This record gives sequence, C-alpha cells and structure tokens, in this order.
Amino acid sequence: ILKVQADKVTATIQPTMWGIFFEDINFGADGGLYAELVKNRSFEFTKPLMGWTKEGHKVVEGSMLILNRKAEDPNNPRFLRVTADHEGPGDLGLVNEGFRGMGIKKGVRYFFSILYRQPQTGITLHIGLKDAKGNSLGDTVLVPTETGEQWHKATATITATATEPKASMTLGFEGDGRIDVDMISLFPGDTWRNRPGGLRADMVQWLADMKPGFIRFPGGCIVEGMDLNNRYQWKKTVGPVEDRQFEINRWNVEFPRRSTPDYFQSHGLGFFEYFQLAEDIGAQPLPILNCGMACQFNTAELVPLDQEDPYIQDALDLVEFANGDTTTRWGKLRASMGHPASFHLQMMGVGNENWGPQYVERLQEFTKAIKARYPDLKLVNSSGTDPDGARFDYLNGELRSMHADLIDEHYYRNPEWFFANARRYDGYPRGSSHIFAGEYAAQSDHTVSPENKNCWLTALSEAAFMTGLERNADVVSMASYAPLFANADAWQWTPDLIWVNNLQSYGTPDYYVQQLFSLNKGTGVVPLTLDGHTVAGQDSLYATACVDDATHDLIIKVVNASGQPAVKTIAVEGRKLGKTGTLTVLQNNDLGAVNTFDQPRQVAPHTTTLQTGKTISLAMEPYSFNIIRIPLR
Ligand code: AHR
Repeated sequence: ILKVQADKVTATIQPTMWGIFFEDINFGADGGLYAELVKNRSFEFTKPLMGWTKEGHKVVEGSMLILNRKAEDPNNPRFLRVTADHEGPGDLGLVNEGFRGMGIKKGVRYFFSILYRQPQTGITLHIGLKDAKGNSLGDTVLVPTETGEQWHKATATITATATEPKASMTLGFEGDGRIDVDMISLFPGDTWRNRPGGLRADMVQWLADMKPGFIRFPGGCIVEGMDLNNRYQWKKTVGPVEDRQFEINRWNVEFPRRSTPDYFQSHGLGFFEYFQLAEDIGAQPLPILNCGMACQFNTAELVPLDQEDPYIQDALDLVEFANGDTTTRWGKLRASMGHPASFHLQMMGVGNENWGPQYVERLQEFTKAIKARYPDLKLVNSSGTDPDGARFDYLNGELRSMHADLIDEHYYRNPEWFFANARRYDGYPRGSSHIFAGEYAAQSDHTVSPENKNCWLTALSEAAFMTGLERNADVVSMASYAPLFANADAWQWTPDLIWVNNLQSYGTPDYYVQQLFSLNKGTGVVPLTLDGHTVAGQDSLYATACVDDATHDLIIKVVNASGQPAVKTIAVEGRKLGKTGTLTVLQNNDLGAVNTFDQPRQVAPHTTTLQTGKTISLAMEPYSFNIIRIPLR
C-alpha cells in the first residue's frame, strides 16, 4: 500500500520548479529558433561568402566584391559591392544555401529584405526560391529606387508554390551600374505570433506547451566562450539587427569529435527576444552572465580581479535593460525596441560551470555589487559538472557558506546514476541556499556520442530522479533538462530534448517527462510512503505526491522502473477524494524506444479517466511513468 497524507504539506513547490534551458548549440538559434533563412546575411562569417555561391555566366573578376568598412561601422563592417555591365536576368547573381537548406512551405508568404545603396538607378533584383533539383518555388522582382550615399531598405514577398525541405534562395542582378548590398534576409510569414523577423512557431510551441516556470538563456558554455573575447556579451545582441555584432559560435569547434565550421551567432535572437519569449510563454527570465572566466574545459583564461568592473557593469546594466523605467539609458533602449513595460527580471546567473577559488573570488565581487544595488535579485551560482567529485563538494561548501541564493548543479550521467540519485537531496543540508538542477540529461552512451539516444530508458530514469527533486522541493527550487534543441543535420551534442529539421520537429520521450512534471507541478509536497518509507527504488518504484492549491487537486507521480506490471493500492489520508480523476501514462515495453520525425509519438502520454473509492487502485504497466490527478473535496 502506498500511503498519502494529503493534508500535510511538507514543502512548498516553487512556481519556477520546472523550466527550460536554452543555448545556441546544435543550431538552436541561428538555423533553428531564429527563423531567418539566409545564412551569413551580412557577410560577417570568417569567410565572407560562406553560405553563398556566385552564379551566372557573367560573373567575372571584380563584379562582386566584399568591402570592409570596419573603422566606420565596427558592428557590421562588411557588405557586397556588385558591378553590373548590361546584365540580363540570370547573368550575374548569388545563391544562398540556408542553414543546411531552407525549409519552404507551400502557401506561406516569405518576406525578403535587403539594405542597399547605389549612385544611380539601373539595377533590378531578381529573387527566387528553388527546390533541391533547381525547380522554382516562386520568384519576384524588386527595383531599388533610392540613390545616394545612404543605405535604404527594400522589401519584397514570395508565396511558395510547393513545400521543400532543402530549398535555396537566388538573388540576381540585372541591368547596368553599381549597387552595394547588405543584410540580405528572408523570413517566413508564419513566425511565432506572426512577428516580422521572429521565431520559428513550431519550436516555440513545444516550449509553450511545457508551461515552463523559467527559461534560462543564453547557455551553457556559450556564456563563457572559447576565450574571453568570445564570451557572450548581451549588449552586442540588442538594438536594430543590422547593428548587432556577429560572433563565432563557441560550438563552432571540434567538440570533442564533431566540427561545424559554419556556426556563427547573428544575435538576431538576442536578449530582447529572449525576454520577450519568456514573457510569451509565461516563464520567468533567467539570464546567465559571464563572471570574468572563459570556459574552463577549453582555456583557463581569467580577467584579473582588479579589471572585472566592465563585467559587473554588464550585469548591473542588464537589470536596468530588463526592468528600468524608460528614463534610464537601458530601459529607454528596451522601450525603443517595442517594450516600454518592465520584463520583471527577478534572478540572474553569475558564471556557468565555473569552479575553483578563482570563481569564488570573482563571484564575491559580483554578488557584492549586484546585491548592493538590487538586494531582492536572486543570484544563481555555478557549481560545475562533477556531482560526485571533491571539486563539487568544495565549491558547494563555499557557496553555502556565502549563503548563495541558488546553486546550479549539472549532471550528465548514465541512467543508473539517475535512478540511484533519486535520493540525492534527501540528506542535503537545509539552509538559506537552494538548488537549481540547471542542466541534466541521462546519457544512453557517453556524452556527445552519436550513439547517445533519447530513448525511453533515459527518460524513465530522469522521471525517477525528478520524483526526488519534487520530494525535496524545500531545497530544490528549479530544474531544467539540457540541451533543449538539436537540428538533425547540424548537431554537436547528444542527447537533446527536442529534435528539428528544416520543416519538422518532435519531442523526445525525455520531453514528455519534462512536460508531465511541469503540467502537473502542484504547489505543496505531501508525504507519500511505502511501508513507512519514502519511495525511491523499493520494488523498482519511485514516487512523489503533491497538492495543487489553485486547482484543489491531489497529484501522485509513480515510476515503475521494472519490466513487470505492478499493482498498488493508494490510501489517501487527511482529505476526501472526488469520485473520478485522471491517469496519464507514459510507457513503452522497450527501454530502447525512441521518437522520430516519422514516428513522433512512439513514447507519448495517454490520459484516461480513473475511478476512485476509499482507496485508489493503480495498475501500472512495465516501464511506466504514471500520473494520477484527483480533485480533493
Ligand atoms: O548542454 C551542453 C553543455 O553542457 C553546456 O553548454 C554546458 O554548460 C555543459 O557542459
């Protein structure tokens, strides 16, 4: 018998308990969530024409040149100068390959835009979409009409005549004369909330459907950078998109055995867009900032302690950007971008996977300065990725003695570790510091291996582990799986929660585990016992129970990690139950089962009605995650 004491709340579950971790890894932003289809739209990749191919029999030496005006415009130095000499359509042009092709959908309108300047008129632009075989998917003509030294924006649209996952965009220059072009862009019209230059709607929908308590951004190691120069700097990611500085992606490296040489950050998805996304999906924003240390797996570059002020200033200015009123410098910028109201930033991370005394001393400086100005802002402190090691213990001890608000622990371990660690926080010191399980994912093989799969075993072990997080909600305040997205044609890391290609996306079994915990979060933990003990492995069961004050439901989550069915009687004490509830089950007899683009719901939840009496009879299938939800009377 499983006993639930429904009237005795032992811990408050924070609204932030289950959230999401976003990083631009695996083409998560450019080539993913950020719906721009043109790769290297302003020629700023290391090789200026990466992603572009010159096309046409009149392409000659000097007809297309990349010019660099760095002294005049350090943020967007390069542009393309085209000199046309009585060209006909198709004589002289460029093709953009997109991010592993462009996903084009029949009937959707595509918005083309370009910045240009020309001494005089005379050139007509031909814009076309082509499928992988070169067949047209639609085209249009655009005549730039402005002349002079100033840059102007011209726009055109194409409605696609067919669907194609690997399309490309052609841009032809017909006529006679010279034209400079930059920021050559193509966006679908069906972005999330139809925002121009916005986000890919299907990808945002997966996030919205989780109803996450928070969204952490922009990473991950990308925060730290390969070196300090390469660190993520939020100020480079706000304001007009043409003024945002490109940055080589920290994942554009062989890490550890896969290289993606064309991975850059346009910062079209920048800090304003992250805050807006958080607001859209009802999640608290959690930005993570560099603490003056580059990625310790990569280099050990540090900023000297006495030169840390600009880093700390970035953190202080970010609060002003998010929350400051429109008379402040950064609040004014936010307002100019379309959001005069505050984004209600309440927490911020200092450092990602940083460790050692060097981290502690830098963190102390940050904490002093931030808390002096914003005493209520909660700070997330890093504690690295070695959950069973001495380094981790040292740092956690230091952080607790500093009364850290939130300690960010990361675990990339095998499923056995996740099952075994369902009790991880049962004995954790209770005090002023709370835990943020900021990155975790069970690995079916070793981390980043191509054999690593998001299979039912990894998901089931995470579900077991998460029962322990919920049961210890008095010390664990937040948790997020990582990484979030992967492009099937351009990933650097496995496993990942949601997989996409240019047209499709699917949630892994791990996604459904995350979603079920989040949708069934509850507000207070109540005791659930088997033979008087919390349930974390006995009879291969892992369980937790909570009540939801908003819906007046009792929610019971039970993982059956055994290959045999199990039947348990659940006796609920302290409160009366409604006559019917629901039982949601995530199950597969095969622990190796995965979801795919073709079979996206091999492991997906199913909900049925559950009758209750004096007790509840729960018949569990082998390898199943079961969620009972019953109204309390
Ligand atoms: O989630 C992928 C990477 O794993 C993150 O960037 C980093 O924080 C961790 O090592």
